[in-house]
Amino acid sequence: MAYSDKVIDHYENPRNVGSLDKADPNVGTGLVGAPACGDVMRLQLKITDEGIIEDARFKTFGCGSAIASSSLVSEWVKGKTVDEALTISNKDVARELALPPVKIHCSVLAEDAIKAAIDDFKKKRDARRQQPA
Ligand code: FES
Ligand code: FES
Repeated sequence: MAYSDKVIDHYENPRNVGSLDKADPNVGTGLVGAPACGDVMRLQLKITDEGIIEDARFKTFGCGSAIASSSLVSEWVKGKTVDEALTISNKDVARELALPPVKIHCSVLAEDAIKAAIDDFKKKRDARRQQPA
C-alpha cells in the first residue's frame, strides 16, 4: 500500500516531535492508544490561561500514518483556541493526508489525542482553582 506524498513528508520530517514539561500547570498531556494495532500517541499542548494553544509536542510509537497524523495536528492546533482545536476531526486529518480506509484509525488517534490533552489541561486548571488562595 502506497503512502501519500503528504504522509511521507510528515513521516520523514515530523513537526514538533518531543516533550513539554509535565509539571507545568499550563501543559496538558494526552496519551491515547489504538486497540486495533497497539500504537500509542502522546500529544502535549501548552495552553495559556486565556485558552490559546501556544505550543505542541508529540511522540508517537506507531505506523507512518499515525506519525503523520500527529505531526499534522501538532501544526494545526498551534495558535488556535481550545474550542477551535476541539473541532478538528479525524476526517479533516484523513482527508488532508489522503489516508486509505485501513489507516483511518490512525487519524482517530490524533483526534483523540487532542481531546485528551485539552481534557488534562482543564482538569489541572480546575484543580488549581479549587485550591484555597
Ligand atoms: Fe500499528 Fe501501524 S499497525 S504500526
Ligand atoms: Fe495503527 Fe496506524 S495507528 S496502523
